[in-house]
Order: sequence, then structure tokens, then C-alpha cells
Amino acid sequence: MATAATTRLRFEPIKDKIGARILNTKEELLSGELADQINALLEERGVLVFPQVNFTDDEQVRFSDTLGGNADEISKQDANKVFKVSLDESVNQDVAEYLKGSLYWHIDGTMNAQPIRASMLTAKVLAPEGGDTEFANTATAYADLPEDEKARLEGLRVVHSLWCSQFYHTPEPTLKQLENWQSKGEAELPLVVTNSSGKKSLVLGNTAHYIKGLDMKDSQRILHGLREFATSEPYMYAHKWQVGDTVMWDNRTSLHRATPYDPNCGRMMHRTIIRGGEAWEANAR
Ligand code: OGA
Ligand code: MN
Repeated sequence: MATAATTRLRFEPIKDKIGARILNTKEELLSGELADQINALLEERGVLVFPQVNFTDDEQVRFSDTLGGNADEISKQDANKVFKVSLDESVNQDVAEYLKGSLYWHIDGTMNAQPIRASMLTAKVLAPEGGDTEFANTATAYADLPEDEKARLEGLRVVHSLWCSQFYHTPEPTLKQLENWQSKGEAELPLVVTNSSGKKSLVLGNTAHYIKGLDMKDSQRILHGLREFATSEPYMYAHKWQVGDTVMWDNRTSLHRATPYDPNCGRMMHRTIIRGGEAWEANAR
């Protein structure tokens, strides 16, 4: 019997405070042997880029499964398959409107009882202009905050609402639209979350509506000020796509957004999401 050689994860950091590029072959990635190393590196770097790995849908689902599972999507298109991210209503009739929220800094699934641990996109068709995806590391950003600021944020709680996030792109909804958005629920989450290894990060983004118990103006200054800081140059990585690239991000410690592009230009990304995330709060189920 041949002895199984241990496959090592090969990577290079992208920036000091965010990102790594993975250099292993597709076969090595699909073997599952690297899963623990990939999950650990994802937690450390926030965003992992797999340049032109050219996963088919089936391979992307299999790869996601090796890392902890292709979770059920928030809006189901095809059970157990990839989710098609497109702003074109003829492609994505039901969800194209919500997906317009992806043009603003956000975390996926803040309304979910259980956080999405990671999301993964593969580029199928590029936008001729725009359509980069930007990522920000809210853990390294938090770590760099002054200590008195950290103390001020401790214990603050934020109401997240999907309906609030929709105002970014649709400021004058019909009453029916608004009621539909509001039917999707709200969630109250800590502003600063701690994972089991003790790492803290900020829960921000377009669903972060207000901080409980604070005056609206103070609340907005804190939320927007932190978003501005966390998405500033040292913590931010802008991915310029090539067809076949896959990018995965730690959805609990990252913000992300697409840069503007024509909704009807044909841009198409295929998404899988990974379950197994720690709860937002240690005492939550
Ligand atoms: C997403 C998302 C950004 C993009 O799929 O969750 O935010 O660049 N996508 O399409
Ligand atoms: Mn998203």
C-alpha cells in the first residue's frame, strides 16, 4: 500500500489584516484532507481566495460539504444546489430585489437564528464594468480600536432588520413592499461578539438598524462610524473577479458588498453557504 502523503495547505497572505490566496490544486481541495487547515485559516484571515479553481456546481457543493456543509439557502431556488446570485429579475424573480442589498456593506443572514459561518461565491459571468466584491475584517478592525472605545461598546445591543436594509436601494417602497419586507422579521444581536477562541468582532452592516436604548442620532453615529472604520483600507480587500475564481469569507467576522454594476449585464455568481457557525451569543442556541 502506498502511504498517504499529508497534503499541506499552501497559501500567501493578501494584506496584513485580511485575506489569503490558496495555491493548492482543485484535486487537493476536493480531497477533504485540507478541510481543518482551511477552516482554521479562514478564521484567521477572514477571506480566502481560490484563484481560477473553476469549480463546477457539483464540485463547489462537494467542497462546501468537506468544510462543514452546504447549508440550506435563505431563499431556496434548487434544493441542495448552488444559489444563483444575479440582480436580473428574469433570472431571480423572487430574490433579485433583496439581492440589491448586496451593494451595501452587510453580513449574510443576520435574521437567521443560527449564523451562517461562511459563504462562498464562484464567478461564472463577469460584469463588463464594476461588480467587484469587497470584504472587510471586523475582527482585526475591532482589535485596533482604542481601549476606551472598546469599553464603550461592550454590552451594546443592536436591532437588525431586513426591512431597514431595503431602504438603501428602494427609498420609496409601496406599502405592500414595506409590509412584505417587515414580515421577514428582526433580530437583536450584540454589537460585539466573541467566539469560543476569545476573538471579538463587530456585527454591523445594512441590517443594523439601531442600538437599543440610545438616542437615534448617537446610535447612527456609532453604527456608521464603526462601519466606516472597519471598511477602511487596512481591513478591506477588493476582489476583482476572473471567471472561475472562488472566494470564501468568514461571515461572522466579515462585512462584504458588491461594487455597483448593471443588474441586467448578465453577471452571475454561484453561492454556497456553510453551516456550523457558532451562535452570535454564547448563551444562545
Ligand atoms: C452574496 C453577496 C456579493 C456579490 O452573495 O451574499 O453579497 O458580489 N454577493 O455578488
Ligand atoms: Mn451577501
